[in-house]
Amino acid sequence: MAKTETATKEREQTAKPGQALLVVEDLHAGVEGRDDILKGISLTVRRGEVHALMGPNGSGKSTLSYVLMGRPGYRVTKGRILLNGEDILELKPDERARRGLFLAFQYPQEIPGVSVTNFLRAARNAAKDQEMPPLQFHKFLKEKMEMLGISDEMVRRYVNQGFSGGEKKRNEILQMAVLEPEMAVLDETDSGLDIDALRAVAEGIVKVSTERMGVLLITHYQRILNYITPDIVHVLTGGRIVRSGGPDLASELEKTGYDSFKETSGKEASGDADEDDRGPLP
Ligand SMILES: Nc1ncnc2c1ncn2[C@@H]1O[C@H](COP(=O)(O)OP(=O)(O)OP(=O)(O)O)[C@@H](O)[C@H]1O
Ligand SMILES: [Mg+2]
Repeated sequence: MAKTETATKEREQTAKPGQALLVVEDLHAGVEGRDDILKGISLTVRRGEVHALMGPNGSGKSTLSYVLMGRPGYRVTKGRILLNGEDILELKPDERARRGLFLAFQYPQEIPGVSVTNFLRAARNAAKDQEMPPLQFHKFLKEKMEMLGISDEMVRRYVNQGFSGGEKKRNEILQMAVLEPEMAVLDETDSGLDIDALRAVAEGIVKVSTERMGVLLITHYQRILNYITPDIVHVLTGGRIVRSGGPDLASELEKTGYDSFKETSGKEASGDADEDDRGPLP
């Protein structure tokens, strides 16, 4: 435990922007009963970089986020995931969190009976392997809340219980601010937000990000990328990254949709396309 903490502290001081942080190599993965959702994903997120991952419904974006975090039930059949050069495939979710990995869920869970404040304190203490005294934590939390415009009333409530869609997303960013991860995976943190909330959440992400942090931003819409400029945009269809490019790729997608990309992925997947590739919805 102490070893992880020391290693994390050392990295905080010595890590440099531009260093490879998350490396995914030829990742094949899925869930029980469907082990072929991801069919060879490779990407490298360097410190200080924001990568946007876009793709149609059912292409495997959330699956990738769960596999990165090590969610039980998900299985990797081939490939590697390295975080700071360490292979994390055998590590449990909490061990990955201690090494600085963070996932904001597409559908944040409710935790009845646990207040946001208590949850955040427990999560931070567990992730950092270090007890922050309650008073110090409250001061720390208050700073983050002010930065993100989150009210006292909200953090006194039970986690996500009765929160509106937008409040849940804002709460995920508060969690990210409190955990201070090295690598953040944000799964559709922008979905279901009204225009003002979208700006608040996007600006929150920018405020929380540092030049040493890596961000993988999963999104359907170019809108959030008006506030957060990605370094690289990836298009995921049918479990494969079929194209990567600069921020312009997101605007292009907004205009053209995924149809042309689906053709590409269909060709690449020709060997097994008949068997398991579902067509687009009518
Ligand atoms: N537990 C499961 N059992 C069977 N199939 C699953 C399971 N979980 C995911 N899938 C399938 O894997 C595919 C990828 O799902 P995933 O949730 O990763 O898509 P996504 O890209 O996040 O989509 P969206 O944009 O709608 O959030 C889908 O076809 C989904 O139905
Ligand atoms: Mg999803």
